[in-house]
Amino acid sequence: MILTVTLNPALDMTWHVDALTPGATHRAPTGSSRAGGKGVNVARVLHAQGHEVLALSTVGGANGAEFETELRASGIPHRLIRVSAATRRSLAIVDDTRGETTVLNERGTALAPVQVATLAATAARLGHTARAVALSGSLPPGFGPEQLGALVAELVGAGTPVVVDTSGAGLLAAARAGATALKPNSEELAEVTGERDPLVGARQLLTLGAQLVMVTLGRDGLLVLDRMHAPLHAGLPRTLHGNPTGAGDAAVAAITAVLATGIRLGGDSAESARAREDLARRGTAWSASAVLMPHAGELSPEHAVLEAEVTVQPIEEDLS
Ligand SMILES: Nc1ncnc2c1ncn2[C@@H]1O[C@H](COP(=O)(O)OP(=O)(O)OP(=O)(O)O)[C@@H](O)[C@H]1O
Ligand SMILES: [Mg+2]
Repeated sequence: MILTVTLNPALDMTWHVDALTPGATHRAPTGSSRAGGKGVNVARVLHAQGHEVLALSTVGGANGAEFETELRASGIPHRLIRVSAATRRSLAIVDDTRGETTVLNERGTALAPVQVATLAATAARLGHTARAVALSGSLPPGFGPEQLGALVAELVGAGTPVVVDTSGAGLLAAARAGATALKPNSEELAEVTGERDPLVGARQLLTLGAQLVMVTLGRDGLLVLDRMHAPLHAGLPRTLHGNPTGAGDAAVAAITAVLATGIRLGGDSAESARAREDLARRGTAWSASAVLMPHAGELSPEHAVLEAEVTVQPIEEDLS
């Protein structure tokens, strides 16, 4: 089983309007709501690709009840911890004329310390039985970076591969804790390292303790770095048009699926080298195919065709 952990879930609500005008009243068709949060998106991708997954999250209040109902209907195996704080909402308004989406993300209400402890302990217990764990998204108020770091260190120490996709202090804490893989996008990486060059920034995360870093570069593809081997750049020869929200989550799903096979990505064998290249190729194909889909957490069936189009090249760095 692959465990996905969504520490800060949200009920994703989407409305479509012909044209969004600030300050005006709009008539709109009935909106939709889905269980969301980055770990849930990762679980949706893996589940659809035939992997055995378990999505761990919290739920609270009436929004939490709606979250749970939708998750159950989607057929994704899940474990939900009841908390007193209401599940936050994320509101997306899609302007169908401009093809633009305006998003309002509630920050959410702080978790009580006892609920933080239950969440961390449950993630650790389930993680010990998992083939790989993905920890995705922001940290809820009350769940500190040091608690994320402790969870990552415990799981990695017990031999479970852990992929972390978060930002800010949580990203640095996960690197220091020796995360098996980190997946920042270029802005998240620049924000925590102060480096515009993603190769230099990713090296900082490796120096802190991360074992592998995949930096996603939007339409420019992605980089895969470890401590011992030449970095890889992977990309498609063309830009795709669609909805890039959740593309990074599809990349996280690809990393987690590869790690769940038990392969050591940092090894010196020909098998490890092939696995790093496969990871770069699959990460690019899955994330690019997510751009073609209307909702986060979905891959277009095109991903198999795209995989054949992806180019993977080692980057020769000037280390002098
Ligand atoms: N327009 C595009 N055309 C082709 N591929 C794309 C495009 N946008 C994104 N991708 C693919 O998706 C990957 C992830 O994109 P990006 O760097 O935007 O992730 P992200 O910001 O973490 O996304 P999110 O957090 O919303 O899931 C890229 O590395 C690339 O492979
Ligand atoms: Mg992201």
